Amino acid sequence: MFVRRDPVTAPGRGEQYSLCACRPSSRTVDGVDSDVVQAGYDRGGDAYLRARNRVPDPRVVALAGALRPGARVLDLGCGAGVPTARFLAAEGFDVIGLDVSPRQVERARGLVPAAAFAVRDMAALEPHELAVEAVVALFAIFHVPREAHAGIFRVLRSFLPAGGHLLVIGGGDAYEGVQHDFHGVPMFWSQHSAADTRRLVEEAGFRVRSDSREEIDGEVHQVLVARAASVRF
Ligand SMILES: C[S@@+](CC[C@H](N)C(=O)[O-])C[C@H]1O[C@@H](n2cnc3c(N)ncnc32)[C@H](O)[C@@H]1O
Repeated sequence: MFVRRDPVTAPGRGEQYSLCACRPSSRTVDGVDSDVVQAGYDRGGDAYLRARNRVPDPRVVALAGALRPGARVLDLGCGAGVPTARFLAAEGFDVIGLDVSPRQVERARGLVPAAAFAVRDMAALEPHELAVEAVVALFAIFHVPREAHAGIFRVLRSFLPAGGHLLVIGGGDAYEGVQHDFHGVPMFWSQHSAADTRRLVEEAGFRVRSDSREEIDGEVHQVLVARAASVRF
């Protein structure tokens, strides 16, 4: 199995995380391999960034208001770090961003020097390898083959104390497929129905605080806000 160590460093914070990266499950849909995601965001990340909203999501802003000053926050599938990691770092939080695309991580390091970033596949994260007070995963988990989602939520629960925050924005409906021209590159998505995603989050040991279906940038998404339950399941 391919194993890589990519230290996560935050200039000026004097901390370093050493994290192991391994391959996710993969498959081919309509002639496109799910592994296209990494290369797709390597190549298409600039176009994606230009096309998306530069303003932090209101749930991220609300989360910032609920956290203690300086809390450590994981931005999972952080992309180029804009707007989410940049906003949270500017608010004084200790932000760790992980992304499977090396170019996205490079972009994020350039755009958000106050946060720490590393190249990681979220499907290969190990339980308890990070300890954070909040996890945000915006528009990212749906790029991982969906049979891995339950395990990802369980691992995220292991990163959090009881009461820790989880914010997930994902797809609105069950779907698996590819687009051949997503910001100029082929791209893969894999998502459960909103009800199944909520169930997986609850089964992983979270209490869902809100679960809404919303139009964001012209697409329908599920917005899930949850807190880590005091009992681990
Ligand atoms: C649609 S972008 C969203 C980026 C950012 N969260 C935002 O809201 O702008 C999806 C990001 O998830 C990352 N990603 C996809 N699959 C991943 C995986 N298995 N592990 C970590 N990151 C992943 C992609 O590289 C990409 O940067």
